[in-house]
Amino acid sequence: MIANPGRGRLFGRNVLEGTFRAAPDEDLFLGELLVGVDEPTGRRYLFRIVDVTYGTEHREPGWAERVAGTMLADDARGEAGVHPLYEPGRRTYRVAECRCLGYLTADGRRFRKPKSLPTQFSRVVAPEPTDFAFLATRMGDLPVGRLRSGEAEVDFEVGIPGASLASHVGIFATTGMGKSNLMCVLAGAVMTRQGRYGLLLVDPHGEYRETLGRHPWAGERLRTYSARSLPNTSTLRLSLGELSVDDLRTAYEWSRPQEEALFELERHYGTEGLSWLATFATVEDLPGFRDVELGGRLALNTLQVVHRRARRIVELQCIATDPHVSVGGAVLRDLREGRVVLVDVSGLGSTEEVLVASYLTRRVLDEWSTAYLEDPARHDRLPVVAVVLEEAQRVLGSTKDRESNVFPRLAREGRKFKVGLCAITQQPKLVDDELLSQFNTFFILGLADEKDRNILRSSSKQDLSALGPEIQTLMPGECLVANLEAPFAVPATIHLYDEALAWTAPPPAARPLAAPNVAALVD
Ligand SMILES: Nc1ncnc2c1ncn2[C@@H]1O[C@H](COP(=O)(O)OP(=O)(O)OP(=O)(O)O)[C@@H](O)[C@H]1O
Ligand SMILES: [Mg+2]
Repeated sequence: MIANPGRGRLFGRNVLEGTFRAAPDEDLFLGELLVGVDEPTGRRYLFRIVDVTYGTEHREPGWAERVAGTMLADDARGEAGVHPLYEPGRRTYRVAECRCLGYLTADGRRFRKPKSLPTQFSRVVAPEPTDFAFLATRMGDLPVGRLRSGEAEVDFEVGIPGASLASHVGIFATTGMGKSNLMCVLAGAVMTRQGRYGLLLVDPHGEYRETLGRHPWAGERLRTYSARSLPNTSTLRLSLGELSVDDLRTAYEWSRPQEEALFELERHYGTEGLSWLATFATVEDLPGFRDVELGGRLALNTLQVVHRRARRIVELQCIATDPHVSVGGAVLRDLREGRVVLVDVSGLGSTEEVLVASYLTRRVLDEWSTAYLEDPARHDRLPVVAVVLEEAQRVLGSTKDRESNVFPRLAREGRKFKVGLCAITQQPKLVDDELLSQFNTFFILGLADEKDRNILRSSSKQDLSALGPEIQTLMPGECLVANLEAPFAVPATIHLYDEALAWTAPPPAARPLAAPNVAALVD
């Protein structure tokens, strides 16, 4: 048997696009990685299949259609095979359209962008492990999966550098394609980095608490705060005095008059943060309060809306009037120590969840940016942290991009302070284009909607132009990782979290003591 049988022969087309002919039964997959071997130079050109079509040498127009018709008629008569195709290997074939990703120099050490053509009719073969060795140094210290060639996994670990958390990570996929699983794998990898990186993970569905709690490093590296009382969690408490009108503006949709009412009320009460929400007039007193205290400047129905939302916030279990019970400081401490901080806000409404996320994100950004500006040495010691937000399109849409909203600010300025945003969304098309272009790492899992794919294509740091069909056909857990480190969008299969746990070594202190040496005891 030939060690590496050829998969085809190259016949076209240009420097960036390769086409090769393969046997009629050659099983070729979208996204499959193949190598064109250029014998004269010893270079190995790496190709990715972007489409597969039928080809025939018959020059007669409509020949293939007629053959199919004849066979169909045979089938109908129950005489399948009466008209066999002679020499099918020569008369029919498959054509794979590929993008050239680049080439490996003859010494196998360097990978270069495509700038030349391999010799025509070069042999196309399956890649060998050494073909990907150049990628190894670019996969960073947060492993998330294995290299994927079409549907097959290659024994090569794919990941991202932890430092790239600061330049923002986007996780995009249609529902059920594996966003949450990827987030768990990423959070698990952060935990095992022993304090080098921190994550603030706001979990609206309460889906991460039990899952991340199973991680062998969770005892040391995971801290969970919950808006409900749950076992093994700290209680999430925020004080009104720490929340700001900007948090309110980020979390809720306000009309112009309602926003003006907020500022007017803030001025009127003159208390710290949103403490005034607790002392806001009762609903029965609103008309009088408006006429007497506010001089009739605000419409009553506007005041009523603000009042209704204020009551909702004040009545939340996680909101306290006493500033001493706030967990803001503790969350910051955990992040400074490089922990994964899980804030389980399940049970809160979507808007209140954003309120909590907005407040905590503002605290982190303030702390890290103050250190950067006032005490660079301290800033150097701070870990890179990222704020993880599900359904991120809620706060990153173009209509949400205002001075008051901390998330666009984080996307624009966070990198230099070592604070990143990890945005998870099913609808990248709803995220503001300019903000999306701030994201240096994209994890693109299966995305059914063409508009979503197009928007990612235009903001990705790697060329995704021919990858539409592949992205559309990705199975759960299959993805493309586009960042600045790798020279092309790297196809990967994300580890299944529970499988990854099975091979994660526990932290040294938690390892069980070695079993006593029986022989020594007998002595
Ligand atoms: N890497 C993977 N390998 C194999 N199967 C996976 C992988 N990731 C996800 N799946 C499968 O897909 C299912 C859905 O995954 P997950 O909950 O992570 O999707 P999601 O994108 O977060 O969905 P939603 O939009 O509903 O939040 C999982 O239960 C699992 O069966
Ligand atoms: Mg999910």
